[in-house]
Amino acid sequence: MNLSFLKAYALEKRIPIITDEALALIKEQIIKHHVKEVLEIGTAIGYSALAIASFGCHVDTFERDEFMIEEANKHFDRYDEHHQITLFPFDALTYVLPLKSYDLIFIDAAKSQYQTFFKKFTPYLKVGGLVICDNLNFHHLDPAKVNRHTQALLRKLEVFKRFLADQPDFQTDFFDLGDGTSLSVRIK
Ligand SMILES: C[S@@+](CC[C@H](N)C(=O)[O-])C[C@H]1O[C@@H](n2cnc3c(N)ncnc32)[C@H](O)[C@@H]1O
Repeated sequence: MNLSFLKAYALEKRIPIITDEALALIKEQIIKHHVKEVLEIGTAIGYSALAIASFGCHVDTFERDEFMIEEANKHFDRYDEHHQITLFPFDALTYVLPLKSYDLIFIDAAKSQYQTFFKKFTPYLKVGGLVICDNLNFHHLDPAKVNRHTQALLRKLEVFKRFLADQPDFQTDFFDLGDGTSLSVRIK
């Protein structure tokens, strides 16, 4: 599926979406690991979910923002021809219904909550499954040149990266592509 019109729309509306490089990494991993079931945290207008569905997967995706939910629903109604995407219009942090098990979890939502998302959703990941996190470098901002709120966020992302590297059940690699991407494989 050619989603370049949706990419252009996101750019025009200044809505952050996945970069081509990070999407290429996801596609490569989906093919390599025969991924079928994907959980995405952070739908926005549905660009990455539609792209991932086009690689042959089913995608459950969380979005909490009313405007984004409306936009995503509009795009899914139109382009998710084979009904491969289920939108959960909820805050992923407070959603309590049982989920199924996944081959891949893609975390692309509020950066300050990555560790919480990881802890909450990895119990639903199969052994051998993958967690991909985007935006871990936060534009390589210099902590000395940003406000306190952004400094706190940068610190949180550094803590999260250490947390990821230290997980005994996961083997994690970090890539300087997109805005900083991690790939964690659940090894046990
Ligand atoms: C970077 S955008 C997602 C982009 C999308 N994955 C793509 O590449 O097309 C992040 C989205 O996550 C949503 N979000 C942030 N925290 C969330 C939460 N706790 N639960 C659900 N959605 C959340 C935001 O509203 C925002 O639309």
